[in-house]
Amino acid sequence: MTFERREFLKLIGSVPLAGAVARGAVVEAAPSSPVPAFGFADDSVPMNAANLCPMPVEVLEAQSRYQAALERSLSTASRKRIEAMKEEARVRIAALLGTSADEVAIVRNTSEANNVIVQGLPLEGGDEVVVWDQNHPSNGLAWDVRALRMGATVRRFSVPARPGSIDEVVDAFLGSLSRRSRVLSFTHISNVTGLKAPAGEICAAVRRRYPDIHIHIDGAQTWGAVDIHLGRLDCDSFSASAHKWFMGPRETGILYVRESRCAEIWPSIVSIPWFGTFEEAPKLARKFDALGQRDDAAAAALVDAVAMHERLTPAGIEARSSAIAERLREGYRELGIEMVSTDHPDFTSSVVIARAPAEHAADLVARVFEEAGVQGAPTGGFRMSPHIYNTGAHVDRVLQSVARHRASLAVE
Ligand SMILES: Cc1ncc(COP(=O)(O)O)c(C=O)c1O
Repeated sequence: MTFERREFLKLIGSVPLAGAVARGAVVEAAPSSPVPAFGFADDSVPMNAANLCPMPVEVLEAQSRYQAALERSLSTASRKRIEAMKEEARVRIAALLGTSADEVAIVRNTSEANNVIVQGLPLEGGDEVVVWDQNHPSNGLAWDVRALRMGATVRRFSVPARPGSIDEVVDAFLGSLSRRSRVLSFTHISNVTGLKAPAGEICAAVRRRYPDIHIHIDGAQTWGAVDIHLGRLDCDSFSASAHKWFMGPRETGILYVRESRCAEIWPSIVSIPWFGTFEEAPKLARKFDALGQRDDAAAAALVDAVAMHERLTPAGIEARSSAIAERLREGYRELGIEMVSTDHPDFTSSVVIARAPAEHAADLVARVFEEAGVQGAPTGGFRMSPHIYNTGAHVDRVLQSVARHRASLAVE
């Protein structure tokens, strides 16, 4: 038995949710397990955290309770009680991320958070925005649209698909910058290759040579999956969605903006609770979540989601999710299946992608769902992104089905 296999069994061997259950039945968590219960059916197992995660039952029920409380009474007192929970969530999320609540905006998703930065940073005609070519459209194409409308140039750069060292990646990032570069914007973990950028090393190297560049990190694939400390990461802004790896309520997300950068960034939407004069704007990052009426029950349920992360700890969640992803990689290696995602330990993530021609990937996703009852995505190849609610049994079901259809993974 390999070391990885032993580590894997130690971490996920006793994870609940596995076991023989009737098709269509909702799987119960074992009472002794630290992993909360989720409501998905055993023939519809999500392994697509890079796109959307299920909420633990405790978070879903909390959100329903807050919703019901509001329906029972839309009185000022009732609304204030629920609305106040958004502030509590902000404080506790900031604490988990190693930053201050004043630097965290509660927005609707990563797309919105990215676009606050894209639309709000002051840029002039000669300025250059540098983006990784694996960025999501909300952090790639969005910059092109902004540049077309208001000037500035967008420059794209690549990173070797299978980098050999952190220095190689840092050099690719540094080499893309010039004296005209005003912004560097990149994805922490790529949703199309699963590559985890060495963000801390990149920020440190960029700061040394270009201290004034605004560094924005899209953390859609990181928040809730990886133990992140924003203070140590040393970026200027960071975006994420709660409905992905954080396993929180839908249409909630965060935008972190470093305190010293808040003043120069214009909010894209100006509404309540911002009223009166410009000087009376909500302070620091809060000005980025003055979006008018919100789904207050969803924002309030962030408190319950963050409580789960506090309980399991970000490091514990990362270890469990990584172990399951490693089991999948190990299975692919045993089957001789080629991967898009690297298995270099400095760059691996829980986004695991088998190489598949575009015309076959969607079909394979559908077949695996039909046979194994596990949902993946045809993004960047045949993509599976397991999280803490997945088990060894889920991984083995995927591997069995993939083995049966391996011919469709062949790339000419
Ligand atoms: C890297 C990255 N950024 C941004 C997004 C957009 O997330 P959302 O749809 O929650 O705004 C995604 C979605 O998959 C993503 O993978």
